[in-house]
Amino acid sequence: PKVAALIVAAGKGERAGGVIPKQYREIGGNSVLFLAAKALLGHPAVDRAQVVIGEGQREAYETAVMGLSLPAPIIGGETRQQSVRNGLEALAATESPDIVLIHDAARPDTPPAVIDRLLSGLGAHIGAIPALPVTDSLARTDGSTVDRSAFVSIQTPQAFRFEAILAAHRSWSGAEPATDDAAIARAAGHEIALIEGDAALRKLTFAEDFAMSAAGPTPFPP
Ligand code: C5P
Repeated sequence: PKVAALIVAAGKGERAGGVIPKQYREIGGNSVLFLAAKALLGHPAVDRAQVVIGEGQREAYETAVMGLSLPAPIIGGETRQQSVRNGLEALAATESPDIVLIHDAARPDTPPAVIDRLLSGLGAHIGAIPALPVTDSLARTDGSTVDRSAFVSIQTPQAFRFEAILAAHRSWSGAEPATDDAAIARAAGHEIALIEGDAALRKLTFAEDFAMSAAGPTPFPP
């Protein structure tokens, strides 16, 4: 099957502090977006990648992806959901893939084994997504704890059959924007397969995440 990667990088990344959105900042000499795109393009099953960027991020983008083989970027929207939608429509307007891996640019490290698991986990499903058990205790904002074994944390890349996820996006009628594409697929009535995620897929969100990545793993005990 033809597999395309769709990487959304149109966010402002304000929680990470600083003026440059997190996906354009560097870790060890490469931008986070470069690393994210390279990890997917480097997998033998992935044929091509399309990046979605924000209006006004063109310069940052060109610098960030230098050396990678990528088509011109697509302009995203106000929400992650809109950015994904714009990317899916652009893929459909060129050459629709069979499968799309939808990925956050803020996750620089995708181990190849995760992509293997996604593609084999897809099987007869419309979507397959990486999930990890919640390791911290979980509580409601009023302080009352909840049973964390009932929850998993969801990561990207998320694999979908292209025509189905495109149709699910087009028919979405939720009041609030969805935070991921699995939610959009489920709202369209599709069952999604959970595959084992990986701690390496962690999304860089806060300034500390960059400090940690730059320093490498912290030895334990420190
Ligand atoms: O803000 P958050 O960490 O949830 O963003 C996840 C991913 O979605 C990031 O890679 C970000 O650049 C992207 N995004 C986007 N368009 C938006 C908001 C976020 O492409 N409007």
